[in-house]
Amino acid sequence: MATETAGRAKDYKAMIREAVSCGETFLRLTMSGGIRGESIPWIKAVVRPVELRGERHYQFIYYESKKGITKNYSGAEFPQRLEALLSMPFRLIHVQTTSGDLHIRITKKGKVLLTKARPSRTEPRPHLAHNRVKGYPIPRDTPDRFLQGIGIMDSSGEVKPTMQNKFRQINEFIRLMSQAIARSGLAGRELTIVDCGCGNAYLTFAGYHYLHHIQGVSVRVIGIDREVELIEQCNELCDSLGWSGLEFFQARIADYAAEVAPDIVLSLHACDTATDEAIAQGVVWQSPIILAAPCCQHELRPQIEASPFEPVLKHGILKQRTADILTDACRAQILRILGYRTDVVQFIDSKHTPKNLMIRAEKTSNLGNRSAIAQYKALTDFWKIEPSLERLLQDELAPYFERD
Ligand SMILES: C[S@@+](CC[C@H](N)C(=O)[O-])C[C@H]1O[C@@H](n2cnc3c(N)ncnc32)[C@H](O)[C@@H]1O
Repeated sequence: MATETAGRAKDYKAMIREAVSCGETFLRLTMSGGIRGESIPWIKAVVRPVELRGERHYQFIYYESKKGITKNYSGAEFPQRLEALLSMPFRLIHVQTTSGDLHIRITKKGKVLLTKARPSRTEPRPHLAHNRVKGYPIPRDTPDRFLQGIGIMDSSGEVKPTMQNKFRQINEFIRLMSQAIARSGLAGRELTIVDCGCGNAYLTFAGYHYLHHIQGVSVRVIGIDREVELIEQCNELCDSLGWSGLEFFQARIADYAAEVAPDIVLSLHACDTATDEAIAQGVVWQSPIILAAPCCQHELRPQIEASPFEPVLKHGILKQRTADILTDACRAQILRILGYRTDVVQFIDSKHTPKNLMIRAEKTSNLGNRSAIAQYKALTDFWKIEPSLERLLQDELAPYFERD
């Protein structure tokens, strides 16, 4: 990758015109984020070629919010519509072609930074179907260099039969994350994401790939894990893909000191109370979005006690399931008390894995909700439990209740 700040960078609009006018290679143009002090009518605009009634048209999608307004223009109308878009003060521009990508960023001082990169999309020619097959954020009908690199797609662009579940999991994670971004007003902004307990980081890479390469979002993604070998592998994969917006660090979640408070904290199947460490970090960083898919849980099982439930608790498997449900219910309730609109949703179909929950929390200004506090106290008193997350966030919770 090479960044230019002078010379040809000044002609960036000419470079965009040239890239989009080549029918054989142009795939997509994404413009987003307004230049400081100037207003733009949409938070993002996306342009791609499509075929309508046998003729090449250009589809413009203008986003005022998560919903876009779609307009299709003929080849004759296209130059005028493109000029109208180029005259808008967008700050981030991403042009994707079959031969390479162009990233343009206008700084606060009005300097134009232009970076050329290898193609982030791998289709050999523009995909002109008007309506894409709906369903997956990373489409299954388009060869994808990242999915091929991690072995989910074969060289012809087919999802391998043994990788169907992983493909679905990646897409489901992206769908949940995108919904949360749209709801919390972060769409169109530069984002920082920290993935706690990233492991081999397929989901971390996939999230970056979707946001940056497919949606054109300017995003920095940081993966942390306690295992040094995994971090080395992640950095190697990052180098081999030539991606620069991802970084990986070896650290325990509770010890990780973020340089910049992340917009999104992820914790996807981090073991046992590592999920609590990630949620606690997200709360302390005041991150607008926390998404946690819990993994194995051990801490509450030995604690739970409630005599009417003796017929349930005497069976090991039922006791474990009860402890799992209570652990996640307490996590969600603590998040509500601390001002997060929180729900617990299905992450992946339970036929693929029993670890299929996601705690989805989005920050609001409504802290210390009285009924949330009363419900939490009643629940923990009844079961005689003190969850890890309560201990980790005792300072934050102290204003709202005191435990004996
Ligand atoms: C089951 S893997 C999940 C990996 C990945 N997030 C995914 O969904 O595929 C759990 C990861 O969490 C890491 N982990 C567990 N506890 C941790 C802690 N306290 N701090 C940092 N990493 C931790 C483990 O090393 C492991 O790589």
